[in-house]
Amino acid sequence: MEARTVEDSRSVLVHWMGPTDANSAGFVHGGVVMKLIDEVAGVASVRHSHCRVVTAGADRLTFLLPIHVGELVTLRASVNAAWKSSMEVGVRVEAENPRTGEVRHTNTAYLTMVAVDDQGRPTAVPELHAESPDELHRQAEAQLRRTNRLAEREQILEQREREG
Ligand SMILES: CC(C)(COP(=O)(O)OP(=O)(O)OC[C@H]1O[C@@H](n2cnc3c(N)ncnc32)[C@H](O)[C@@H]1OP(=O)(O)O)[C@@H](O)C(=O)NCCC(=O)NCCS
Repeated sequence: MEARTVEDSRSVLVHWMGPTDANSAGFVHGGVVMKLIDEVAGVASVRHSHCRVVTAGADRLTFLLPIHVGELVTLRASVNAAWKSSMEVGVRVEAENPRTGEVRHTNTAYLTMVAVDDQGRPTAVPELHAESPDELHRQAEAQLRRTNRLAEREQILEQREREG
């Protein structure tokens, strides 16, 4: 399977936040942003794997600043790292006030997407060819998050076994 570049997976989703996306005070619901993050991460991981994918988990999803009704939200995603069947996708969310042109970085998220076959079983994905210093940096950080996640899982299983 031929390796793919980060550029191959790069995906952008733009959404205008309307009244149904927000609460009565005009703040956009967190769940609306989470859904869009999941969608753009799905597109990026399908572009990398050329397979059906499922969301396995989110290692981090931060809400840095609120988003207001009437703002234009741009979500940018790309694959940070690829392993056997899973990929980490990084998502950056920016909100723009279209009247003033002011742009704010509102969210960052890292999701693990798993490529699956028609029976829903994990299936192999192409290697990621990280090229630029930024891409190599993101790949190394993704590897660190995966190592920590697996170590945490081991520790929890050991603790449960000790506690019976
Ligand atoms: C994700 C899923 C396919 C993994 O299946 P599984 O039988 O546990 O498969 P494995 O244990 O062989 O793991 C497969 C890969 O998923 C990764 N994975 C599994 N669970 C994970 C989790 N909770 N978080 C991050 N990665 C996970 C493994 O690390 C492995 O990665 P690798 O192949 O790159 O090494 C399965 O749990 C599933 O279908 N979950 C439901 C997904 C879903 O419905 N999402 C919402 C709608 S899209």
